[in-house]
Parts: sequence; C-alpha cells; structure tokens
Amino acid sequence: MKKFEWQEGLKEKIDALCAIFPPVIKDRWKNRLIYNTEKLAAYEGLTVVTDDLFWRSVTEVFPGGYEPLILKVKDPQKLKTTMLSSRDQESMEPGKEPVTITRWSQSVGSTTDVPPGKKILAVNSSARKGGNTDIILDEIVRSCKENGATVEKIYLSDLNIKQCTGCRACRKGDVKTICALKDDMIPFYDKLYEADGFIAGFPIYTARENGIMATFMDRWDCFSNPFLTRKMPEGKKGLIVCSWMWPNATAYDDVVEKMVILFRLHHILTTDVLVVTGARGKKHGKGVVKHHPAILNTAYETGVDFLKSL
Ligand SMILES: Cc1cc2nc3c(=O)[nH]c(=O)nc-3n(C[C@H](O)[C@H](O)[C@H](O)COP(=O)(O)O)c2cc1C
Repeated sequence: MKKFEWQEGLKEKIDALCAIFPPVIKDRWKNRLIYNTEKLAAYEGLTVVTDDLFWRSVTEVFPGGYEPLILKVKDPQKLKTTMLSSRDQESMEPGKEPVTITRWSQSVGSTTDVPPGKKILAVNSSARKGGNTDIILDEIVRSCKENGATVEKIYLSDLNIKQCTGCRACRKGDVKTICALKDDMIPFYDKLYEADGFIAGFPIYTARENGIMATFMDRWDCFSNPFLTRKMPEGKKGLIVCSWMWPNATAYDDVVEKMVILFRLHHILTTDVLVVTGARGKKHGKGVVKHHPAILNTAYETGVDFLKSL
C-alpha cells in the first residue's frame, strides 16, 4: 500500500474535527477523512497531503450542514462573524437581510409555449404561514394561475396526517384507498393522482426536512404496494422549494437531493429546485423574502418555466 506523508499538524486537525463525535462513531469519521484525503492525493498523483488538499477532502466528506463544525477548526474567526451576525437579526433593516435564492434548473427561460388546462397541486410543510417557503410558493402559484393553470395549494399543518404505523396493509394486498389509515391523506392521494405538476415546499429543521414533511413522505410508501391496481400515473413533473437560515447556499443539498430521488421513486420527475438561504432578519427571518423583489421575480419565472415543462 502506498504511504502518504501528511503535512505537519493536519492529523491533529482530524482529531479536532472529530472531537465532538461520541466514541461509537468517532473512528468511522476519522477513517473516512483519512481514506478520502489519501484517495484524493493518489488521484492527483501527490505523495504529500497538503493543507489545501486536506480541506477539499473535508468538504467532500462532511455534508454541507456540518459547515459550522468545519469552520470551528479551519476558521474560528469566520464562524464567530457568521454566528454573531445571525444573533443580531432583530436589528437587520428590511431589504438588507442576507437572504438569497438559488435555482437548480439547467433550462431557465424556456421558449416553449405554456400548455393549456394543466392542474397543479402545491403543498407547504412549514406551519409558519407567511414564512419564506410560503411566500415563494405563493409567487409560483400566482405565476401558474396567471398563465392558465388550475392550482390548489395546501398547508400540510392544516391536515390531519397520521403517522405511518408500519401495519404493511399496503404490502399484503390491494388497498382501494391507497393507505389503510383513515385521515386527510386519502383525499390527498386522489388530488395527487389527478395533478400534472406537484410542488412541494419545506424548511430545513435540524439539518433535514421538517418533521411534518417527513411524516407526510412516509405516507407515500404505499405507492410501492406491488398489489396496488391504481398505479401512480407516469409523466408527472415536480418542483421543490426549500428554505433555511444558514447562509451557505449548498449546505443542505443532500437533503434536497434525497427528496428529488424520493419523488422519482414515486414517478414524479423533479425539473427544478428553488433554495432560499440565509433567511435571517426580524422575527427569526420570518418572511424576509418579501422585501427582495429579485427573489420574488425568480420564483415567478420558475413557476412559468415549470408550467412549460408539463
Ligand atoms: C426547529 C427549527 C430547526 C431549524 N434548523 C435549522 C438548521 O438546522 N439549519 C438552518 O440553516 N436553519 C434551520 N432553521 C431555520 C429555518 O430553516 C428557516 O427559518 C427557514 O427559513 C424557515 O422557513 P419558513 O419560514 O418557511 O418556515 C430551523 C428552524 C427551526 C424552527
């Protein structure tokens, strides 16, 4: 096996990065970091692990949401400034908040015509009505409606959505109501079957989708019932809106990508994603996007392009 020389002090940085992890997982992370760093060095034909290579490897290994942990070791001053600015939210002037929007689609500004008579179903899993996810969804809904679509928007927090009990009725035979539980998901399944486009908005809570969204998505597992006669129709398109506080615009890409894959498993092809980041300001950043016309405009245009993709 090839031996790599590590620049002085770098192995200690691995210890510092992993200091927060309890023993049961600490060595897993250390090994991952060492393995990935040396793999990267080998790929680049290096025999010495340099500072630059090491930090590149760290950002590859840790999910984006671990950025504060990385900064704590790499650049404590930057962490302090970032954290302090987030604590001082009440003094932020409306319109001066550091909020940004990132659009993932490759086909922005599509020149195709808007198809007539399309049905769109939109859900928001944030219980914060008038929050950032909500405002962005409303702009998308407005653009779809103004361009001829029929749109229904639902707050998941208003519905009675029971938690999946794991009864597995949906693996034992056909279930006419899709899921054996009796609650507001039953009419929701009907709406989803009829929709051409599905829009899902959710905020990041504790580095993952918020709990309401997770409970809601568990209830989609019954679509995989092998005995189900009412299969999910093919050809539906999806659009995802996700909002978080941390300023890094890629911090929770892993969470959003998992949602894209989950929709794909249920035959919904996500064509675009809008990510709202750095959502800080008065009232913990509630609804700050409304002070930012360019962000609202991006949401509106995304809605039109989404409609064109149907
Ligand atoms: C319980 C809770 C946990 C949160 N966890 C995170 C987090 O891990 N990372 C982050 O960047 N923001 C986090 N936030 C901030 C929200 O993601 C942010 O305020 C978002 O804009 C909320 O969207 P909404 O206004 O549409 O509900 C959290 C907020 C709450 C209430």
